[in-house]
Amino acid sequence: MSKTRQQIFYRCGLTAIFLLTSTAVLAGNYLNSGHGGYNTAGKGVSRLTGYATGNCAHCHEQHASIGGVEPAPTSGIPSAYGLFDTLSGNALCNYCHDTSVKNGAPDIAGQIAKTYSHDPASAISTVLCNDCHNPHVAKPGSHSAAVDGNQVGTTTTPLSGPLLKVDGVSATWTAPSLPGGGTETLSTAALTAKTPITAEYELCFKCHGGQIVGLTNLTGQFNPDNYAHHPIALDGTGQWRNAAIRANYTTLLKAPWNANLDAAMYCSDCHGSETGSDPAGPHGSSNPYMLKGTAGPGSSYDNFCLTCHVNAYNGGGVTGSGFPHNSTTAAHQYQGEAAGQNKLGCMACHGGPDNALYAKVTGVSSNGGGRVATIHGENFRWTNPDSSTSPADKFLLGGYLLGVNTTTRTCWAGMSGTDACHLATTSKTW
Ligand code: HEC
Ligand code: HEC
Ligand code: HEC
Ligand code: HEC
Ligand code: HEC
Ligand code: HEC
Ligand code: HEC
Repeated sequence: MSKTRQQIFYRCGLTAIFLLTSTAVLAGNYLNSGHGGYNTAGKGVSRLTGYATGNCAHCHEQHASIGGVEPAPTSGIPSAYGLFDTLSGNALCNYCHDTSVKNGAPDIAGQIAKTYSHDPASAISTVLCNDCHNPHVAKPGSHSAAVDGNQVGTTTTPLSGPLLKVDGVSATWTAPSLPGGGTETLSTAALTAKTPITAEYELCFKCHGGQIVGLTNLTGQFNPDNYAHHPIALDGTGQWRNAAIRANYTTLLKAPWNANLDAAMYCSDCHGSETGSDPAGPHGSSNPYMLKGTAGPGSSYDNFCLTCHVNAYNGGGVTGSGFPHNSTTAAHQYQGEAAGQNKLGCMACHGGPDNALYAKVTGVSSNGGGRVATIHGENFRWTNPDSSTSPADKFLLGGYLLGVNTTTRTCWAGMSGTDACHLATTSKTW
């Protein structure tokens, strides 16, 4: 038994005894947890009759026998940890966390059944509830976007209660080297085990940090020293910070982001169910990449971006933005599907989408970085058609661009055929 596990054993064991022998309100991890009932009558796990809600026995069987009846496994062999069912396939958790919603247990099985999900049956690598949650400690209260930073922890009000006391990794970044023209340099983070996590991404990087074959190492994308990154991790120098947004955050960002300067993000601000009223967390979505954003006109990502960025970026002109975003042509506006229209939405200029969307546009095959999820962060340097080189800051390596220079406020964009806009060799300034 590991040290932490021993601690759980001693602490929970003691609490369990108190739970059975005393009606007094007791502090402690388990009694304060959602499963333990957080000291509120009637709350907590409930499976068996004759046991108070919150009792450990709802999950751990004593002597592999409850009420004189032999529960599964009926072979008499004790299940691991004396649990009433296996963790494999999330069977134990799903007993309550399915449509039966036992005693208020949110239906997570329904989320995981969606097309894009953390599926225990993933062909890439199995991922279970227990990999992301500590069933002895998890509390109610999912995080408040833009308010809790990216934090997980116990204060008077827990920041991200469901993620309390889980294992993860701590990330240390070194600045990427200067990319040459036409290339991207990404510097992945050095990771060390961390228990418990204090920021959500530390949980995600436990698997999305290069450990699992078939999953991209995302740590380089989120390096705070990149030309651009969505701030799940902050740094001291603040290179990621956008001057235009910072000076006008109350008008350039939507609530709750417009009330919180320099707020850090949780991955689950962007990844989670497509339906806002569903349980919080990146469990599953019907949108590709498990994204929260509902598809807009022509399946664009515009609506998704506009959950946080103001609608005025969608062709209305943005006071305070360096770029007008209000062209009189449809090309700079919402995604349109007809020839000559902007088929990539915001990602025509920022980030650049996945290959399925590129396939819609004649003459465009890839963003400069040549990869998906550039909107996480990128460190690409353009070789512009006039042979100058410049950093693709502000995620400016979208699918239509052939070069951009934010210092001289110049861009080049051109494609072949019916989707051509400017001539590739003609620069435009803003
Ligand atoms: C016997 C029923 C039962 C089982 C089995 C069960 N849960 Fe729960 N779980 C609940 C209930 C009830 C709640 C809601 C508590 C509340 O907030 O009132 C809950 C809440 C949670 C929460 C959110 C914290 C909260 O209180 O809102 C997490 C996370 C969680 N469960 C994870 C798990 C995991 C992981 C497993 C499997 C290892 C599991 N549960 C198995 C009944 C169960
Ligand atoms: C919601 C279900 C649930 C409840 C309620 C629950 N446990 Fe557990 N417990 C688990 C699961 C799942 C594991 C296996 C954890 C793992 O795989 O690391 C576990 C593991 C343990 C272990 C072994 C620790 C280890 O990792 O080696 C002990 C001891 C334990 N529980 C005690 C308790 C006590 C005491 C209580 C009540 C105070 C309790 N549990 C309530 C689900 C539960
Ligand atoms: C890849 C990690 C991951 C997996 C796997 C996972 N969860 Fe979660 N879960 C999260 C995160 C992240 C949150 C949201 C935390 C927040 O917003 O503060 C969450 C939230 C929850 C909540 C609270 C929902 C709410 O709205 O209050 C429950 C309950 C829960 N998870 C149970 C489960 C169960 C049961 C499973 C397995 C069927 C599971 N989770 C699998 C990461 C995960
Ligand atoms: C225990 C390992 C594990 C952890 C921890 C984990 N993931 Fe995953 N994640 C996976 C696996 C495996 C897949 C691939 C599932 C599949 O499609 O087969 C995946 C897929 C995803 C996808 C979908 C990618 C796509 O191409 O469609 C997103 C988004 C994601 N994870 C986000 C997160 C976030 C956010 C967290 C942290 C809250 C997290 N993951 C934590 C293992 C993990
Ligand atoms: C969940 C909220 C959220 C979503 C969704 C979101 N963003 Fe952002 N975005 C932010 C925050 C917060 C910042 C950082 C603001 C700051 O600099 O203070 C940011 C920054 C930016 C920046 C400035 C980056 C820089 O380095 O100067 C751009 C450009 C941007 N986002 C574009 C997009 C696009 C395009 C999408 C859709 C694909 C998108 N965002 C989706 C919250 C969001
Ligand atoms: C035609 C190209 C183009 C499209 C399409 C586009 N942008 Fe921009 N955007 C730019 C340029 C160029 C800048 C850099 C302005 C500067 O630095 O002077 C910029 C800057 C930004 C910034 C950084 C802050 C600012 O205002 O300077 C945000 C945030 C942003 N865009 C969001 C969006 C969103 C959201 C969409 C989709 C609704 C979008 N953009 C569509 C070209 C575009
Ligand atoms: C600003 C919103 C935003 C944030 C924050 C964000 N993502 Fe994403 N993520 C996206 C978008 C958009 C895509 C799909 C991009 C595309 O079409 O190229 C994506 C793609 C992914 C993928 C698939 C990438 C691949 O290479 O297959 C994974 C996995 C993922 N995200 C995990 C995470 C994790 C883990 C975090 C936090 C560390 C995170 N995301 C934070 C918006 C976000």
